[in-house]
Amino acid sequence: MNPFKIDGIVDGADYMPRKESEELLNYHRAGRNVLIRGPRRTGKSSLVVNTFRDTECLFLRVDFWGVKTEMKAVEKIARAFEPFCKKLPMLSGFNIGGIGLQWKSPEAVSSVEDLLRLAPGLHRKKPVVIFFDEFQALLDLPDSDQFLGALRSEIQAQPEVQYIFAGSNQNRLMEIFYSQRSPFFKSAALMEVGGLDRDDFVAWLEDKFAATDRSISPRLWDAIFELSHAIPGDVQDICYHLWNDSTEGGEIGPEDLGATLKRVLQERASGYAGMWNMLTDNQQKIAMGLTRYRGEMYASNEFLQMCGTTSHASVKRGIEALESKGLIWMSSSRWIFSDPFFTLWIANSVDA
Ligand SMILES: Nc1ncnc2c1ncn2[C@@H]1O[C@H](COP(=O)(O)OP(=O)(O)OP(=O)(O)O)[C@@H](O)[C@H]1O
Ligand SMILES: [Mg+2]
Repeated sequence: MNPFKIDGIVDGADYMPRKESEELLNYHRAGRNVLIRGPRRTGKSSLVVNTFRDTECLFLRVDFWGVKTEMKAVEKIARAFEPFCKKLPMLSGFNIGGIGLQWKSPEAVSSVEDLLRLAPGLHRKKPVVIFFDEFQALLDLPDSDQFLGALRSEIQAQPEVQYIFAGSNQNRLMEIFYSQRSPFFKSAALMEVGGLDRDDFVAWLEDKFAATDRSISPRLWDAIFELSHAIPGDVQDICYHLWNDSTEGGEIGPEDLGATLKRVLQERASGYAGMWNMLTDNQQKIAMGLTRYRGEMYASNEFLQMCGTTSHASVKRGIEALESKGLIWMSSSRWIFSDPFFTLWIANSVDA
């Protein structure tokens, strides 16, 4: 079976322990709430979940992904609390195990306060740690300011509970924690999570190949890390596809990487063409420019030339549109594509 896991939270043998766990535990010991920030697919969610797995804490994760109403957000929290609420007097508000939770108060905002008030009592002995993942989704609620305000005031009243926040959209998370008018303004310590230590990660990945009776030429790692911008999820993605095309007992070499990339691009060609056709002419030009340009000066004439435009406003508009579609993101002052295979497809399939 393919040993590389390319989607979502990884654990057990699929998770490579990382040193940032110690930093997160230090915040826990210091009683600080933490905002985890880092590029997409770097392992933020996996880090938090695995850090608390072997501790004495009662750890709960609430995933707010896709939440569009206050009631749904309350329900997500309630579902996480439900298994630990049996002995609590406020239980009368719950319909345990049932679909649809019943609340004394029909108001989502007062419900979230009632509910969160249960947090410190969820366990009598263990410290409680609550991980709000995909937290930026709460900005999509019709009355998000009021809801976030209620959440914030209750969290503030609970120094004994540690709250950890993360999400896949960094700009929107920053809007919650660094906009002066937000109830959560600077309310958590900021912890940056980047890629995995390259040497450790390579050794860990090589072990995965070896355990399934394959080997990989060391010459491939530079290309794999460059292509994936060292994003752990994307590094694993390339290894996953290399493994699929490999045979037991064989060594994967540079020519295999080329063949695998070609296969993946062929398989995804119609999907990518569909995505490409949804872009406006200007967005396509900017995307082309971004695949070619190696610098960081997006207002330079060199970049404008690569995009085939003379208008700074068009570049700005195009970049903003590509970013809001989630196709590109800023990594250390450079715009890079979220899907490394899409960059290759553009470079290989689109005529300049
Ligand atoms: N410590 C790790 N060991 C091995 N693989 C990892 C590790 N961390 C991340 N990955 C890889 O990255 C992928 C994404 O991990 P995870 O969902 O935890 O990242 P994330 O930063 O929370 O992503 P998002 O930005 O989408 O929320 C995993 O499926 C796995 O392939
Ligand atoms: Mg995540």
